[in-house]
Amino acid sequence: MPVLATFGPYPRSVPSSTMMGTMRTLISNGTVVTGSIAAEADVVIDGEKIVGVVAPGSAEGDFGRVIDATGRYVIPGGVDMHTHMELPVSGTSSSDTYETGTRAAAIGGTTTIVDYAGQTRGDTLEDGLAEWMARAQGNSFIDYGFHMMVTDVHEGTLSEFSEMMRAGVTTFKLFTAYPGVNLSDDRQILEAMQVAASIGATIMMHAENGIAIDLLRDEAIARGEVDPIYHLLTRPASMEAEAVHRVVALAEIAGCPLVIVHISSQDAFAEAVVARDRGLPVFAETCPQYLWLAQEDVPEGFEGAKFVCSPPLRRRGEGHQAALWSGISTGRVDAVATDHCPFTWEQKEAGRGDFRKIPNGLGVVEHRVDLVYQGVVEGWIPLTRWIDVIAETPAKISGLYPKKGTIAPGSDADVVVYNPAQSHVLSAETHHMNLDYSVFEGAEIGGTVETVLSRGDVIVDHSEFVGEPGRGRYLARGTNALVPEAVDR
Ligand code: URP
Ligand code: ZN
Ligand code: ZN
Repeated sequence: MPVLATFGPYPRSVPSSTMMGTMRTLISNGTVVTGSIAAEADVVIDGEKIVGVVAPGSAEGDFGRVIDATGRYVIPGGVDMHTHMELPVSGTSSSDTYETGTRAAAIGGTTTIVDYAGQTRGDTLEDGLAEWMARAQGNSFIDYGFHMMVTDVHEGTLSEFSEMMRAGVTTFKLFTAYPGVNLSDDRQILEAMQVAASIGATIMMHAENGIAIDLLRDEAIARGEVDPIYHLLTRPASMEAEAVHRVVALAEIAGCPLVIVHISSQDAFAEAVVARDRGLPVFAETCPQYLWLAQEDVPEGFEGAKFVCSPPLRRRGEGHQAALWSGISTGRVDAVATDHCPFTWEQKEAGRGDFRKIPNGLGVVEHRVDLVYQGVVEGWIPLTRWIDVIAETPAKISGLYPKKGTIAPGSDADVVVYNPAQSHVLSAETHHMNLDYSVFEGAEIGGTVETVLSRGDVIVDHSEFVGEPGRGRYLARGTNALVPEAVDR
């Protein structure tokens, strides 16, 4: 396997005993990969924390547990900064609970999620956060934080942003899509961005021109075009790119950091890249479904409902996937998150006869680490870029770094042992998400998550889940670490 150095800038010693009487764990003989280095090293864990990353064989003292990682990558637990567990959507909810969804995430090598809490129109942000906290608390197997989806922008809501920041919710999602449900108009977006800029918050943006798209959808239905494929055909990439361009312009006026979430097309990505190259704090997130799936994979007829998400899958031959993979390789894609929002086949049935009623979203949370690793196997991205987009930079953007997202002394002992010599096949028969089909059915992955530690607890052993229910903790997050701060002189 490719290794950048025989051993990294790691010391030869580490405290050899614990002051606290906690369990010490040694992960030995592996190749430690972070967002910046791949090197042979041993990892020493004491209780919930990493206390040392040392030259192979140099750790001293007694260990209650030794994990032999020979031939394996030792990587930070994945940080999925975009999930929707139990998201209420038109009379139903996404099918993974915090329990089922975080178990599946852990089995797939993700040890932290930043889920989207939501404001119900007419209610406060505080109500929304309390509702989501109650759902997650005592149910999540892994640590979790929340973004806040703001669907009702007015003076009252904006005055709550500071309170949210104090509660550790430092990112706010706005929508240019879904009119009548989530959409904010340009004035509301600009106002929210101004407030965010004034308090150090980051805006997460679902960028598609929902008003124009709604017309295209209604026109399609009027023509009798009711099948799921018309969901894809009525959400053109130009409408995603237009919205990205517009919200970047608004963010620039406000001086506000902006994450364009779930980028699906090279058109939209190009807008984000132009903004970044101009020095604006604009960040690009994409998802495994956009890296691997395409319109051509969508089955004919209603079965295509399984693949309905927004933004939609794009045509394979148009270069979207090549642009996004190249963006990962060159550091222009900052994060690969999942936008995990699964609906069972029965739930998808709601849209039979009218694609507008199909609940939007895919089940991906279990496969993100694998599906990006497959880009390493294919030779498209280096190992360090894999880890950067699945853990390190998401942790930085989410205000969780270096507690999460890296392997370093002082970081939480969220560690994955990944075996590049063991391939496996994705399937609904074997996945753990609460979903009775898989959009990745039959995909072969050239590696496997074997062991997962979350704050020092082994929660996946020999690829089997062994975690204790309700052990996940709420993460009060800091601000986006990639936004430059003005220095007072
Ligand atoms: O289709 C999707 N993406 N559903 C989840 C909600 C969202 O827009 O992120
Ligand atoms: Zn969205
Ligand atoms: Zn989403």
